[in-house]
Amino acid sequence: MLKTCIFPAAGYGTRFLPATKALPKEMLPILTKPLIHYGVDEALEAGMDNMGFITGRGKRALEDYFDISYELEHQISGTKKEYLLSEIRTLINRCSFTFTRQNEMKGLGDAILKGKILVGDEAFGVVLADDLCINEEGVGVMGQMVKIFEKYRCTIVAVMEIEKDQVGNYGIISGNEVEENLIMVNSMIEKPSIEEAPSNLAIIGRYILTPDIFGILENTKAGKGGEIQLTDALLAQATNGMVLAYKFQGKRFDCGSLDGFVEATNYFYKKNV
Ligand code: G1P
Repeated sequence: MLKTCIFPAAGYGTRFLPATKALPKEMLPILTKPLIHYGVDEALEAGMDNMGFITGRGKRALEDYFDISYELEHQISGTKKEYLLSEIRTLINRCSFTFTRQNEMKGLGDAILKGKILVGDEAFGVVLADDLCINEEGVGVMGQMVKIFEKYRCTIVAVMEIEKDQVGNYGIISGNEVEENLIMVNSMIEKPSIEEAPSNLAIIGRYILTPDIFGILENTKAGKGGEIQLTDALLAQATNGMVLAYKFQGKRFDCGSLDGFVEATNYFYKKNV
């Protein structure tokens, strides 16, 4: 029922310079798979097969990654190495991939708005590939959120508890529990100070958004950092309707930071050997 997943991927990835000077940060590999591949896997597992990317200048490698490389495939066809491409080949066959650009860096809210053309008038998923999520116990985070969406039919954001001194790095929510691990949001602030933070529940990069978010984003003024913040639009949606925050099952690696990236690499390496 939810067909489309949007991947905002226009950011510079300055924390990984100089590697990200000529390589999209979403293409940085955790072992042999780029970060974006993990995100697409998660969306597909959740039943979404229409993958929409909001890219920008210097991000063409993403388009090439989700396309067939005839020369390469011809070269390794019939050799021992052929299996190395089979996973991405299967993924390409199962999904469609569409790309549009955010030509100015005006924030996550603006990036999502640019995705309107890829979505149409229906609810959709959003994956921020920097946040690598896995659930060893079963269904992935987006799949868990789809189940909640099927019941409540409203916008859902994934949240996790963080250390209080980290609140300034995230959108922070608070509200009332409606079910175990499910909170009806009544307050939400993008990257608050410790004093301003309404809780220690941080939004991580998984969302299911109802399409009215586009109209709200069109009327959302620049907020924190002079950027159009998705968090501000979500607060308007929560105030006029309903937004649920879901404390997901599983583990999240902050692959937008060096520590998280190394942690994820070690984790997957240990799992593979
Ligand atoms: C974005 C969002 C923030 C959210 C975070 C999750 O921030 O604006 O609300 O908590 O992603 O990773 P960014 O990390 O792009 O600064």
